[in-house]
Amino acid sequence: MTFPSRVKIVEVGPRDGLQNEALPVATEHKVALIEGLAEAGLPVVEATSFVSPKWVPQMADAAEVLGRIRRKGGVSYPVLTPNLKGFEAALAAGATEVAIFGAASEAFSQRNINCSIAESLDRFQPVVDAAQSAGVPVRGYVSCVLGCPYEGEVPAAKVAEVAERLHRMGCYEISLGDTIGVGTPAKARAMVQAVAERVPMAALAAHFHDTYGQALANLYAVLELGVATVDSSVAGLGGCPYAAGASGNVATEDVVYLLQGLGIETGVDLDRLVDVGARICAVLERKPASRVAQALLAKRAKASC
Ligand code: HMG
Ligand code: MG
Repeated sequence: MTFPSRVKIVEVGPRDGLQNEALPVATEHKVALIEGLAEAGLPVVEATSFVSPKWVPQMADAAEVLGRIRRKGGVSYPVLTPNLKGFEAALAAGATEVAIFGAASEAFSQRNINCSIAESLDRFQPVVDAAQSAGVPVRGYVSCVLGCPYEGEVPAAKVAEVAERLHRMGCYEISLGDTIGVGTPAKARAMVQAVAERVPMAALAAHFHDTYGQALANLYAVLELGVATVDSSVAGLGGCPYAAGASGNVATEDVVYLLQGLGIETGVDLDRLVDVGARICAVLERKPASRVAQALLAKRAKASC
């Protein structure tokens, strides 16, 4: 078991984080958040979703957000596209990377995207084909990899099957989502091992929500297996509108601190990241859920007394 020497962090706060906010967040705050995250050194900032505004009203300004951000060289800004309609709108708005999102649980697939797993895969293929013709890379998500809010246990074999289908379809990376944050390290490790028998480890990403406070422990367990891409959300923002009670993703500040402690490179400037998290939390009128951000902000406040 060896840790990777470098980990790519995929920042999902502007999408996974903000999609769950009940009150509208102004487009200018979303744009500032995305730009701040890129400036802090995040190599990938998932910017928004081209989904139905009736389903997720918070993402209704997707085209405007994507059109307004000042893009930093070397940073990618993927957006979610559940179907061809979303893909075409994303392309027209200037998307250069997209993501499709399926699930390992039938009930969650129905609630989240209004179709079965098989139907979703049929719908994704033309999105991947269109993206490939346009030279746009596609990332794939599998939700409910460690449990489902409606079905409970989800077999690792089902996760592996859906992950393999997305990978074969042409997704360059498969992000494994513990959507409701119920996983524990041994289970996370077993799930990743099952998936890695069918999709190369180098193409896997860990996307862990922190509902039960296990996300960092789960990450540690799968980093040991060689997973080298981690999704996280600044200030631990977020949740999924179709998974009641699910809290945000593991906080990016906490992931960066963990990785720094392990001597693993990320390219992220932790102090700048804490500033970005504090700014969006001021807009949302709450304190960052990140323990590292709380500690560093308290230390700064003490130093300035
Ligand atoms: P549907 O109602 O089955 O779609 O929704 P439809 O094709 O029947 O169309 C119905 C209406 O939606 C029509 O409009 C379409 O034009 C419109 P109307 O004629 O009624 O005015 N429509 C669209 N509008 C904008 N953009 C589109 C689009 N497609 C159709 N792309 C659909 C199916 C997938 C669209 C819907 O279920 C939806 O938008 N779901 C969004 C779900 C979502 O965003 N969930 C959160 C993200 S996933 C997540 O958080 C998990 C993840 O983080 C990983 C993890 O943690 O596990 C990724
Ligand atoms: Mg998520």
